[in-house]
This record gives sequence, C-alpha cells and structure tokens, in this order.
Amino acid sequence: MKDTRVADASGTPSRQSRRVFVLGATGTIGQATVRALVRRGHDVVCLVRPRAGVGGSLAPDDSRRLLTGAEVRCGDVSDPVSLARDGFRGERFDALVSCLASRSGAPKDAWAIDHLANCHALAAASNAGVSHVVLLSAICVQKPRLAFQHAKLAFEQALIESGLNYSIVRPTAFFKSLSGQVERVRRGKPFLVFGDGTLTACKPISNDDLADYLAGCLDDAGRWNRVLPIGGPGDAITPLQQGERLFSLLGRPPRFRHVRPQLLDAIIGVLSALGRLSPLLEQKAELARIGRYYATESMLVLDAATGRYSAAATPSTGSETLFDYYAQLVSGATTAERGDHAVF
Ligand SMILES: NC(=O)c1ccc[n+]([C@@H]2O[C@H](COP(=O)([O-])OP(=O)(O)OC[C@H]3O[C@@H](n4cnc5c(N)ncnc54)[C@H](OP(=O)(O)O)[C@@H]3O)[C@@H](O)[C@H]2O)c1
Repeated sequence: MKDTRVADASGTPSRQSRRVFVLGATGTIGQATVRALVRRGHDVVCLVRPRAGVGGSLAPDDSRRLLTGAEVRCGDVSDPVSLARDGFRGERFDALVSCLASRSGAPKDAWAIDHLANCHALAAASNAGVSHVVLLSAICVQKPRLAFQHAKLAFEQALIESGLNYSIVRPTAFFKSLSGQVERVRRGKPFLVFGDGTLTACKPISNDDLADYLAGCLDDAGRWNRVLPIGGPGDAITPLQQGERLFSLLGRPPRFRHVRPQLLDAIIGVLSALGRLSPLLEQKAELARIGRYYATESMLVLDAATGRYSAAATPSTGSETLFDYYAQLVSGATTAERGDHAVF
C-alpha cells in the first residue's frame, strides 16, 4: 500500500492514497464513485466493457472521457481470464470497489453479474493483494423476494466469508428511480401512485452523496466489516409527497391517478403463466414482480423487532435533496437520467 498522505476537500491531510480497482464504473453510481475516489487522491483503475453504458452507447474513448482522472481498461468482468489479463494485469491493488449490477434485473443476468462476476472479481482482487472490498448493494435485500436480491445477498455472504476487509453499502432509493414521472407530469398527465400514495416511503440519496459515502469507506474504519444501510438527508418521503412537490414546482394543482397494487398481481399472474412458454414473457413477469415490490415495500431499514420499516433507524448522509433535484429538472438546469431500472 502506498503511504501517501493526501488532503481532503477541507484541506485536512488525513487520508491515504490507495490503488483502487473499480467495477461498474460506467453506471450511474459507478461514475460518481470514480469522481469521488479521484477527488480523494486515489489511484483509480476501471475495467469497462468495450461497448459500455445504457444500450452499449459508450466506445472506449467515451468511457475514458467520462471517467477523467482514472485509468480505463477494457475487458469482460464475467470472464476470469479477461479479469486477470485485461483488468488486474498482474499488478498490486489495495482495494476493490464494485458498483457492478445487472442492467436488466432479470434473474439470469443478476446471477451472472451481481453474483458470479463479483465472485470472480473477489478472487482476482485477492490474488492482486487487495485487502478491502467496498460493495454497492441495495437496502431491499433485507427483505429478499426477487431473484436479483437473492443474487446480491449470495455475493454479500461470499464477501463476508472471504476474510478480506469489507464495507457492504445498502443505499435507499436513487434520484433517477424517483424521477421517472417528471416528464409525464410536465406534459399535463397525472402523477401515478399505488393505493393512496403513502404505502411506501424512502430517504432518497443523490449519486454524489452516495459516491462520497462509498469512497469514504476506504478511510473510515467505522465502516469496515459492516453492512451499512444508508439514505439521504431529511425526512422520509412518500410517493404522494413527491407528486405534491412536483405539481407545486410546476405551479399546477395536484392531480393523481391511484392504481391498486392488486392490478400488478393480476399482470404478474398472467405473465408468469405465459412465461412458462416464453423466456421473454418470464422476464417481463419478473419486471412486474420488481414493480410490485417497489409499489408496496419501503426503502427504509426494516425493524426486526416490529417487522415495520423505520425512517428513524435509517442512517442519513450528504446534503442533496430529491426536491432540490426536482426543482433543477423543472427549471431545465439538469435533465433526468432514466437508465434501465426505471419502474414507471
Ligand atoms: N435504482 C435505485 O433506486 C437503487 C437503490 C438502491 C440500490 N440500488 C442498487 O445500486 C446498484 C447500481 O445501480 P446503478 O444505477 O449505478 O446501476 P447502473 O447504472 O445500471 O450501472 C451498472 C453497472 O454495471 C455494469 N454492468 C452491468 N452488466 C454488465 C455486464 N454484463 N458486464 C460488465 N459490466 C456490466 C454496467 O456496465 P455497462 O455500462 O457496460 O452496462 C454499469 O457500469 C444496483 O445494484 C442497484 O440494485 C439501486
């Protein structure tokens, strides 16, 4: 490990520069995490696909431009040979940060990426001398119902049992997942909510606040060998409150369309039955199950004693709020990123 002391944002010379290998660098949180690691003075190497990004829109030079300050290498994270040859290249690293995640959430893809590719990376990282692994997971794995959640949990367990230092970060909802309706509401359509709009709540976390938290795991020994649920600043927010704020920012009276979650049960039933005949329809059934899950489960810490979600038990970090982000979207100061996980 290099023993270079570097200054943090406040100028405090308290951090050690480390050689960090990053996976999933071209994703939403991966990009922000690379920025945070570079800002903290770490030496960052990313392994990316030759065609990366949503729909494979990024050629290698696009990924390099996106990940300024980091070294970008191209290879296949799902192939142990490529991981070693094109990624780690026989060099030594101090830490692995994985923001890798299946883009579809489909069961086969989730097990191949969230579990198996991460397992290959763990083995390769261990061979490269890595002593600390920071994993981007998800708060929803605390109540696993979906294939991707089981795949993530299986890798979390493999990491815990690896003997390496670990920080498993389980964030609440991202801004992009809560912004899918901004455009439809702007176009005059109602805001869709399940039930009365208060079935669920979450403490949204911004890309940069989460990225800073992930990067900070390398420096903060209080985050080592722990599973870390984390949300953004402020109170928990319901879908009803999201809609109300959006209409208020647009200067329009609130207009909601209420959807019964049972409607999704009917869709899941039909698609599951048809899915026995067609893998494509089974994939759609799983997407409907994912939609059903988020329609009815909060992205907050589940209190084991009461079996209820608890905003008070969900730690907060950062300073950026969803409502400030909505204001930026409405004013045109920024544009919404939909990615591939959008539910609406
Ligand atoms: N959305 C939410 O509200 C939310 C909340 C909590 C937790 N989470 C969790 O956060 C995680 C990351 O989210 P995100 O939005 O940053 O993900 P994302 O934007 O979809 O990025 C996924 C990353 O994984 C890479 N990847 C996917 N499949 C790959 C493959 N076959 N080979 C190589 N690389 C592959 C992607 O590379 P390419 O660019 O090459 O595709 C990309 O870099 C997920 O595990 C999600 O469950 C999400």
